[in-house]
Amino acid sequence: MGDDLLHPLTPPVVTGSRLVFLAGLAGFALLVLALAGGRRASAAPAAPVVARQVGGGGLDADQVTAGRSLYVTHCSSCHGIQAEGTRNGPSLVHAGAASADFYLRTGRMPLNDPSQQAARHRPAFPPDQISALVAYVASLDAGPAIPTVLPGNLANGNELFSINCAQCHNDAGAGGALGYGDIVPSLRNSSSIDVVEAARIGPKPMPVFNPQTLSDQQVSDIATYVQYLHHPEDRGGLGLGHLGPIPEGFVGWVVGMGALLLVCRLIGTRG
Ligand code: HEC
Ligand code: HEC
Repeated sequence: MGDDLLHPLTPPVVTGSRLVFLAGLAGFALLVLALAGGRRASAAPAAPVVARQVGGGGLDADQVTAGRSLYVTHCSSCHGIQAEGTRNGPSLVHAGAASADFYLRTGRMPLNDPSQQAARHRPAFPPDQISALVAYVASLDAGPAIPTVLPGNLANGNELFSINCAQCHNDAGAGGALGYGDIVPSLRNSSSIDVVEAARIGPKPMPVFNPQTLSDQQVSDIATYVQYLHHPEDRGGLGLGHLGPIPEGFVGWVVGMGALLLVCRLIGTRG
């Protein structure tokens, strides 16, 4: 009788078919863990932050000449021999150093097909040639100079990002799509200078955020938040690829319901 009180529960009998189910359940859980881990490991590292100051007065004449000859070979077919623009590309006269730097460093230019949306690629030119091309574009007219990234505040950046950027780039910076087939890119590969330049020049169809809308400090705060998104802390558990709340919730449902079904089968099966 005393023994019965000490051991009120008889240990469950694990039969062959239950073992198979338990093994299946464990395998399923391992697969989910491996998938979530793999996605995080495969996220590409951010490009190094290069803040070069081009524009304004300090242009090197040799650089401008070198840039001009690269321009004639690689860009003039679409942007015109005097950068006046053609039906295949806009005028670059007022584009400025910030725009040239952004489009060349992110490999958006030169474009292959003027009807396609410019997308991030490996840069087509080495850094010295990019500097030369940027100097040439900057020499055309005093367009926006390359902005400087200030040390930013993460919490402010998070709030400003939610208000100004998340509707297109998604809360987790994962990107998405706009109407008319335009792709909104993920910000996983965007360095701080990419973020600040993009905000200032507004690569179409993204809007321009001028200093009246977002101060230099505020765009730098956003840049700090975007860098944080590259390596978020997963306080709630697994990050599930950081696709944002809706797809993550969906994964939660499928995995959770699947596990519940397995448990029901397990309990419901007679030994
Ligand atoms: C096949 C045609 C084509 C070629 C070649 C090309 N571009 Fe472009 N470029 C475009 C088009 C079209 C746009 C506008 C589309 C967009 O903004 O996504 C553009 C936009 C730009 C912009 C942004 C303009 C702005 O108003 O801010 C810059 C800067 C630029 N190109 C620089 C270059 C440079 C430098 C080269 C040469 C290395 C080059 N492009 C080669 C077609 C071309
Ligand atoms: C209306 C939608 C929209 C809003 C709002 C928006 N973006 Fe964008 N963003 C885009 C699109 C579309 C592109 C791609 C442009 C192209 O094709 O070159 C882009 C490109 C970018 C890029 C370049 C990504 C890369 O690495 O190549 C950065 C960085 C960026 N946006 C940051 C921001 C920030 C920061 C904000 C908020 C201050 C913001 N965007 C607000 C639509 C938007």
